Amino acid sequence: MILVTGGAGFIGANFVLDWFRQSDEAVLNVDKLTYAGNLGTLQSLQGNPKHVFARVDICDRAALDALFAEHKPRAVLHFAAESHVDRSIHGPADFVQTNVVGTFTLLEATRQYWNALPGAEKAAFRFLHVSTDEVFGSLSTTDPQFSETTPYAPNSPYSATKAGSDHLVRAYHHTYGLPVLTTNCSNNYGPYQFPEKLIPLMIANALAGKPLPVYGDGQNVRDWLYVGDHCSAIREVLARGQSGETYNVGGWNEKKNLEVVHTLCDLLDEMRPKAAGSYRDQITYVADRAGHDRRYAIDARKLERELGWKPAETFETGLRKTVLWYLDNHAWVAGVQSGEYQNWVAKHYAA
Ligand code: NAD
Ligand code: TYD
Repeated sequence: MILVTGGAGFIGANFVLDWFRQSDEAVLNVDKLTYAGNLGTLQSLQGNPKHVFARVDICDRAALDALFAEHKPRAVLHFAAESHVDRSIHGPADFVQTNVVGTFTLLEATRQYWNALPGAEKAAFRFLHVSTDEVFGSLSTTDPQFSETTPYAPNSPYSATKAGSDHLVRAYHHTYGLPVLTTNCSNNYGPYQFPEKLIPLMIANALAGKPLPVYGDGQNVRDWLYVGDHCSAIREVLARGQSGETYNVGGWNEKKNLEVVHTLCDLLDEMRPKAAGSYRDQITYVADRAGHDRRYAIDARKLERELGWKPAETFETGLRKTVLWYLDNHAWVAGVQSGEYQNWVAKHYAA
């Protein structure tokens, strides 16, 4: 079986659901279920004996050791993290704990388990670390995209802790020979994304008749990757990636935030028209994020050249699917917009 951390979050859950569409290999899903983890996303796997869920914190070494001993995974896919930049600005401590201490604890548990594996299993074992392009810092409009050799220059507490975790993973390969793979991907979007991130937040607010809060001048650029494409890239890297290598994953979709919000409004105007006017009327400019990175962009040519991976979705097809999903799954959105979510919105958007 494979061990997936953070498999109740946005990307991890999409990965687990996708995995069972392609494979009959079992999954041990290890997730602490923070505000961002949601078992409702995995409802279709209820009763499936190949999906084993363990509510465990990756900082809990004893619990991890017990899971390794019982389930003997052939690979670890590490998605679990605190993942939201704005939250890292309000409260960085959880980010250091999960992203740095948690990754370290998971690496230590993995190393002990891996060391005791018999020869062939030891050689075939993989630790795949899921990271972000934000570790590379911010680009100007004319800079080339991030490549695998771009120097690290993280700017937010979130990206600094992800960079720290990347360095630990690298060091465990270099020092102990642990067979690791690291992927650095751009901004994901798609079904089951928590409505604190740009795209699901804008859809949820638009439908609720609330303001669409654009930070600063709305000209910051992100490079959008459909989550299903990210999942297929991770499967490729796990199957055929070179131990010790890093791979950038991107969708070749650089867009300014305002462009994204306009496109979302236009899709909603078409699919769920308002009684009068356009969703664009709800756009509101709000104070900029502290230390807001101007532009991210990924050069994903290594993955294409070496493993033949290319994204299947364009931004247009992926965004249309995503809007449709949110329109059809209002119950999921309402379910995650619980008390904690309300507190976040009140605190963060108060100003
Ligand atoms: P998410 O916040 O939606 O989900 C994170 C999951 O990890 C949740 O299920 C949460 O319960 C779990 N978790 C958090 N702390 C934990 C702990 N201490 N122990 C066990 N489980 C814990 O995040 P996501 O968007 O799905 O991101 C997944 C990974 O991909 C992260 O490592 C993130 O840094 C990376 N990434 C995300 C994006 C993006 O656009 N969402 C882009 C690049 C990289
Ligand atoms: P986000 O989805 O938080 O991802 P990240 O910060 O990891 O790139 O934000 C994407 C972009 O959208 C980022 O430039 C900040 C901006 N943004 C807004 O303008 N308004 C919002 O309410 C949010 C959540 C983000």
